[in-house]
Amino acid sequence: MFTLVYVSAAVTWFSDRELRALLAQCRLSNAQTGITGMLLYKDGNFMQALEGEERTVRALEARIAADRRHQGMVTLHSGTVPQRQFSDWTMGFYDLRAPAGDLPAGYTEFLDTPLRDEAFLPAPQRCMDLMHVFRRMN
Ligand SMILES: Cc1cc2nc3c(=O)[nH]c(=O)nc-3n(C[C@H](O)[C@H](O)[C@H](O)COP(=O)(O)O)c2cc1C
Repeated sequence: MFTLVYVSAAVTWFSDRELRALLAQCRLSNAQTGITGMLLYKDGNFMQALEGEERTVRALEARIAADRRHQGMVTLHSGTVPQRQFSDWTMGFYDLRAPAGDLPAGYTEFLDTPLRDEAFLPAPQRCMDLMHVFRRMN
């Protein structure tokens, strides 16, 4: 099983409706191609974990990179994993624009961290830590 995590910046901030439309598109397509993962959105930035067959994940990475709704995609982490980490989600999702009172334990460490490459490149493993905070929450 192959996984990767990237960050990117929306060209214009997504409305609730646009986020819902994006997710519906992701889930439908991922269910067909055997992709699972998690998408976080915060202040115009995305962080997404994708997992599946390496060829399929790489092909999707290229398609997503070409998507004009966002830019500046930087892959922070990639590699093989013994099993799926997000097996229950064709695409889990959290919108962190307005943190509510029910944030998961462990999130506070990331509360003031923008979902941007410069925040994670010094220690890329932190992007997996953040993804796992939300995996436990679902
Ligand atoms: C932040 C972001 C995340 C995306 N995640 C996925 C995804 O998980 N699966 C997917 O099929 N498309 C995803 N897309 C949509 C793809 O970029 C693309 O629009 C879609 O795969 C259709 O590609 P096509 O028009 O080349 O067929 C995402 C787009 C954005 C902006």
